[in-house]
Amino acid sequence: MSVSREHFGSKLGFILAAAGSAVGIGNLVGFPVAAAKNGGGAFLFIYAMFVIFICLPVMMAELTMGRTSQQDPARAYTQIGGQSKWWSLAGLLGVITPFMIAVFYAVITIWIIGYLGAIFMGDLALLADGSYFSEFISSSTIFYYMVAIGLIVFGILAGGVKHGIERMAKLLMPALFVMLIGMVIYTLTLPNAISGVSFYLVPDFEKVTGQVVSGALSQAFFSLSLGMGILITYGSYMDRNTDIRASSKWVAATDTLVAFSAGLLMLPAIFSFDPGVDTESLSESSVTLVFSFLPKIFLSLQGDIGFIGASVVAATFFILVLVAAITSLVSIIEVPLASIAETEHWSRGKSIALLALLMAVFTVPAAMSFGFAELFTSFTHYAGGDKSLFDVIYDVFYDTILPLNGFLVCIFVIYRWKKANFQAALHEGSSNTSMSWFDRYINVALGTFIPLVLVVIFINTVATKFFASPLF
Ligand code: PHE
Repeated sequence: MSVSREHFGSKLGFILAAAGSAVGIGNLVGFPVAAAKNGGGAFLFIYAMFVIFICLPVMMAELTMGRTSQQDPARAYTQIGGQSKWWSLAGLLGVITPFMIAVFYAVITIWIIGYLGAIFMGDLALLADGSYFSEFISSSTIFYYMVAIGLIVFGILAGGVKHGIERMAKLLMPALFVMLIGMVIYTLTLPNAISGVSFYLVPDFEKVTGQVVSGALSQAFFSLSLGMGILITYGSYMDRNTDIRASSKWVAATDTLVAFSAGLLMLPAIFSFDPGVDTESLSESSVTLVFSFLPKIFLSLQGDIGFIGASVVAATFFILVLVAAITSLVSIIEVPLASIAETEHWSRGKSIALLALLMAVFTVPAAMSFGFAELFTSFTHYAGGDKSLFDVIYDVFYDTILPLNGFLVCIFVIYRWKKANFQAALHEGSSNTSMSWFDRYINVALGTFIPLVLVVIFINTVATKFFASPLF
């Protein structure tokens, strides 16, 4: 165990940092789109069930692994469970996954800051034009924004756990909540907002297919930053007197509440802009929604609040998403960073230099996957479609690997570490010694029901994504 391992300064600091990781583009954009497309209230219900009964126990398991081992994911398994070739492989996957997610997440964050830049330059009308997005993402401008994002994210990481990550979260997360509440209140006052709200909340169980259920679990996993090694790493910065069970509930509740509120922002805005909107075509992709459709909505506000007013609303929205994306990027890049520093016994600064280089090596081609370079744009072919390099990274690491990593965590804590040891470690730091029904549920489900669901979802996702033949 490293004696000098830095820890979070306070419980609130930890909760905000973990919530900062969890609240991201997935909540603000992915969730509302998924809910709109997949049965509104029915999707919300399924999602909430997954958060409580699958994700929350996995979150507690990851945090406990981190806190007990005081290691990054690459070493946590073997530190706790003893040397084993197979479990070191699980650890390796726990570091490669966040690195690759960071790559595609960085590309989207670059687009967001690029849009924000354009709004500041008074170009909202240009953004609302149908062809802007595809021109922008295939232009060389993205590289300037890539440098900007790199400087921000690695700048924060250079401050360390307490003065970098925790301070950022304490500053940015409250700002994010305020902006989100402000935007929700504003969009709810727009004409016809209420039909958006009812579309969002009224359940339509007919739309719930096997795919929808599978997608809801993937969305919940991604949204709560599970299976990415992040919570193992953040757990290793937690004090032994912090109650993991209570903190996890706060993080999951915050994340879910933000996702829910984002729907109250998006759907009223969409329905107010176009009351007869064809929700099927609209919700095909969250990327199209944010980068092509939303600018049109913002621009349409100029009739009421003028061009400057419309630009201010648009800028607020993109700042909101940017803040959410940056706090998530910081958390995910911290995983390979901690791992490099630990493996090489390097200083944080030196590890950052190497990691920044590695990130660039992967992010540059991924960002060129949208027409800038043919090689990366038409990279390969599977499941009946042409795939860019970005698509491949996204398909493998967005929703395929996460349930697998979650499955490995469950099996590890219950069968390798052993249930009783895990339980004791989980309860350390909690003054509440009584077992609630939920504690009893975790005790049984983490070794049975939860890994079973996760492995089925994993197999189904592989069958769907790579062989175009879903099992259900
Ligand atoms: N929870 C994040 C989101 O919803 C996912 C994520 C976390 C992505 C950390 C990257 C890094 O967007």
